[in-house]
Amino acid sequence: MPRTVITGASRGIGRALAIELAGRGHDVLALCRKPGAVTGLADVDRVTVRGLDVASPVALHSFATSFDGTIDILVNNAGIAGGKLRENLSEADFRMADEVFRVNAVAPLLLTRLLADRLAPGALVVNVTSLMGSNAGNTSGGMAIYRASKAALNSITRTLAAELGPNGVTVLAVHPGWVRTDMGGPSATIDTETSARGIGQVIADADPSRNGVYLDWKGDPLPW
Ligand SMILES: NC(=O)c1ccc[n+]([C@@H]2O[C@H](COP(=O)([O-])OP(=O)(O)OC[C@H]3O[C@@H](n4cnc5c(N)ncnc54)[C@H](OP(=O)(O)O)[C@@H]3O)[C@@H](O)[C@H]2O)c1
Repeated sequence: MPRTVITGASRGIGRALAIELAGRGHDVLALCRKPGAVTGLADVDRVTVRGLDVASPVALHSFATSFDGTIDILVNNAGIAGGKLRENLSEADFRMADEVFRVNAVAPLLLTRLLADRLAPGALVVNVTSLMGSNAGNTSGGMAIYRASKAALNSITRTLAAELGPNGVTVLAVHPGWVRTDMGGPSATIDTETSARGIGQVIADADPSRNGVYLDWKGDPLPW
């Protein structure tokens, strides 16, 4: 049974993906920033809940050093939208931007590198990105910092694909769709279960020939 680690699994897409992959027979480690506040997930068969705040370098380090065994699939899902930059720019705007880049881009890079020697031969790393990270697709503007953080995550996906590909690891950037979550809002087009089912199939279909690609939740390629 594949051993799968998912960040940001307390709610939204990460939680639905933990349940979807457990249903597909994965042994899932669902990492949550505040595990004590998460209800119901630890009761799901084949799901174990553990704490990890991906914004904390100390927490990332201690998680990686205490992790026992190998990982077949690592899903870097935790993400934040941040807020809008205000016109009277203040320190708070810089802090928000730092936090968005830290959680959305830097943490997936550091966590993947810290766990690199635990990745089993043939392992898969899925970076949950966004269509908003597509430079080619950016014709409307808006959400500048979030977009840039996901474009950075796309770049990091290519870096990790080049670095880990020779070890037989496949690294993908996957857009989950526009999903009804706290981040996606109530007008989004799909629910978390539909997104998770699609990503579950993308994971099942992944192989080294797809290393370093940018796909949506249906497995269709996206323009960088
Ligand atoms: N929803 C969409 O339409 C959409 C579209 C494109 C891409 N995405 C991407 O999909 C991923 C999941 O988004 P979502 O819609 O499910 O968002 P969400 O409902 O807001 O959930 C975000 C998840 O990330 C976790 N998280 C945030 N900061 C964290 C940290 N420092 N450490 C650990 N976990 C942290 C949250 O944990 P807490 O409960 O502790 O806050 C929560 O579990 C994100 O990367 C997002 O950018 C979403």
